[in-house]
Amino acid sequence: MQILHLDASILGDASVSRTLSSQIVARLAALHPDSKVIYRDLGQDPALHLSLEHLSAWQGTVAKDPMLVNDLFKGNSYLQELLDSQIVVIGAPMYNLTIPSTLKSWIDRVAIAGKSFQYTATGPEGLLKGKQAYIASSRGGVYSPGSPAAALEHQESYLIGLLGFLGVTDTRVVRAEGLAVSPEAKDEAINRALQEIATIGA
Ligand SMILES: Cc1cc2nc3c(=O)[nH]c(=O)nc-3n(C[C@H](O)[C@H](O)[C@H](O)COP(=O)(O)O)c2cc1C
Repeated sequence: MQILHLDASILGDASVSRTLSSQIVARLAALHPDSKVIYRDLGQDPALHLSLEHLSAWQGTVAKDPMLVNDLFKGNSYLQELLDSQIVVIGAPMYNLTIPSTLKSWIDRVAIAGKSFQYTATGPEGLLKGKQAYIASSRGGVYSPGSPAAALEHQESYLIGLLGFLGVTDTRVVRAEGLAVSPEAKDEAINRALQEIATIGA
């Protein structure tokens, strides 16, 4: 059993999504003592944005720039790590109504036609069937269904949609929101999320 753990927050130790994702991984590791955890800190060490040079390299042009060579290797590793994992845990803060661009850069390396999904006569088909995902979601405001800002929610919904597109349909969201409302609201949201994590697998 391999667990892929991703973080994308830029807030270091003060990050709520990092706290939640690490607790989810700890809980899963306790439930699966034989598991191996692969960790990627996308906030600290992101992949580059895709460029014409990346596309040329994918089409066979030999990359010479050491930075590009390194980045192509990193992207291939991202994909292999995802293919080899049974569970992916994603620490995903909301930045400007959606996911951090560093997490999007990871997605740009793993959403590859022929590897993680394919186009068929009846539409796209995800190839990552049978995997589970956990999204550790954090955000300053409140965007839950029914709230006034719900229509602006493009973070969890995007990730759930993207994972589903790749064939990962068993996705659970652990959310701490309203973190900027007040210190009390923040503590309450984090404690509620931590309590929920304690029930994983129970
Ligand atoms: C660059 C940036 C953009 C943000 N944009 C939003 C936003 O659009 N909506 C929101 O509710 N909170 C927003 N926030 C607040 C974060 O979602 C909140 O601080 C959350 O706790 C971040 O997760 P973290 O604690 O894991 O870093 C933003 C924070 C940053 C740093």
